[in-house]
Formats: sequence, C-alpha cells, structure tokens
Amino acid sequence: MSKETLEQASKINENITIRELRHLTQGMPASDGAGVKLTRLIGTPELNMLDPFLMLDAFESDNADDYIAGFPPHPHRGFETVTYMLAGRMLHKDSAGNEGVIAPNGVQWMTAGRGIIHSEMPEQEAGLMQGFQLWVNLPAKEKLTEPQYQEFPADQIAVETTESGGEIRVIAGQTNAGTQGAVVNEFVKPTYLDIILKQGESFSQSISSQENSFIYVISGTLAVGEKQRLVTEKQLGILAEGNTTALYADTDTRFILVSATPLNEPVARGGPFVMNTQDELRQAVDDYHNGKFA
Ligand code: FE2
Repeated sequence: MSKETLEQASKINENITIRELRHLTQGMPASDGAGVKLTRLIGTPELNMLDPFLMLDAFESDNADDYIAGFPPHPHRGFETVTYMLAGRMLHKDSAGNEGVIAPNGVQWMTAGRGIIHSEMPEQEAGLMQGFQLWVNLPAKEKLTEPQYQEFPADQIAVETTESGGEIRVIAGQTNAGTQGAVVNEFVKPTYLDIILKQGESFSQSISSQENSFIYVISGTLAVGEKQRLVTEKQLGILAEGNTTALYADTDTRFILVSATPLNEPVARGGPFVMNTQDELRQAVDDYHNGKFA
C-alpha cells in the first residue's frame, strides 16, 4: 500500500470511529434533600465525575414516602442543575422569585452561576415519580455568571420519529437528521436525548470525539458498538472515545444519551457548591451565610 493510500485509509478510519462501551455501573442507593430515595450514578466513589458531569441521580418510585419530603430550600453556586421528568410533577421555587412545575417529559436547565437558593418539591402526594437530575459543571470564567433558567414543557421539546417508529426527544444538541434541541448551552455544548427504539432498531448519533458521553437505560437492553456489549435496564454505560455511537435495541428500549465537552479544569466541590479552588469554595460558603445569594 502506498503512503498516500495509507494516509487515505487512516483518514477514513478517522472519519468513523464507533464509540464502544468503556465502563458500566449500576450506581448506588442514596438519599438527598429531606430524604428523597434515589440512585446516584455519577458522583459516587466508583465514578466521581465524568467531566463536565458532576452528578447524575435517577429517581423512580410509586411510594410517596420515598419522595414526598422533596428538596427544601438549598443553595447552589458554580454549575448547572438539569431536571428531566419522566413521570410525576415537581414544583420549584427560588430566591429570585421564579416558580414553575416540571411535568412529564419537561426539562428545567438551571444555570446556578454565582448563586441561587431554590426548592424542588413534589407536586403530588401519590403515584409514580420518575426522572433525573444531572449536574453540569460551568467553566471557571462563567462560574459567577448571572443565574438563569431554560425551562421547556414536553410540547416545546422537538420529537423526531425514526423510520421504524422510534422517538427521539431532543432536549439539547442536534440529531443527525438535524432536529434541534430546545436548550441552548454554549458552556459545554451538551447533547441530551431521550430515545425510544423498537426492538431491532439501530441508532447512531455523531458526537465530537473530544466529548464525554454516557447512556442510561430506562427500560430494555441496548447493545453498544461493534463489540455489542449490553447495557440493561437501570445501568449507566460510559462510552469510549470515538465520533459516533452505534446502538442497537435488543428489545424495545428507552434510554438517555448525554454528551458534552469536558472542561479539564480543577474541581473543588463541597455539597451544593462546585468551584475550582478551596478558597473559592470557602468564599461560596461565606457569601451564602452573609445573604449574598440571589
Ligand atoms: Fe437543587
């Protein structure tokens, strides 16, 4: 093979590199807020973070005792919290006077920035409550940005239908077919898709090769990459390097695919504050106690 042909071949390979499965986790049971039972998938001893994702909690229960206590007022600084509901309703209120309800297939992408105090409480006393909270880090230069919200109910989130009858809810990012996500975020350019595939259906999504990506299977089983490694219900799979996903639904499957550009910056975290240095963390605690949050 000539040098030219070799170079061409490696270029083609470079063009399509399928993301295989790098790590599989079931997370661990945890309790947060005033005693909400959940499964922590990112932000555990096993998986401290997946830059820029600091935490992922999955909550799912039809026992009100598991969620009724909610998340009474608490502060955040230095990152973003993303709540995506699958079932049930969550009422949020904050110190800036914002208030709203997140209903099924609705999302709230909150940029806490320099500081906000908010509460997240179930707007129901019975029935199934299911969803996710994801924490997304902010770059150092934006950690003290003005707090802001992007909130979209289900009917404002584009749903792309696949040829085989699958559905892709595009919360953030853009699908290969060009469907645009509701949430706009230039900090880490995230992709957040909620995908329903019929048994036997495949799904591919182009993703910049430098991004960190994971899938979490809500129900069903996915085979990942050319190696076809399985990720089953309630498992989180971190995808290895590559620029496209190749996912195959072994059964009817619903999952989220989340991806973003890593920040590669030092992380100093203390409870609800995530900064770059211990000094900034101390400052956050001081500012909170001195009433400097919005
Ligand atoms: Fe919160």
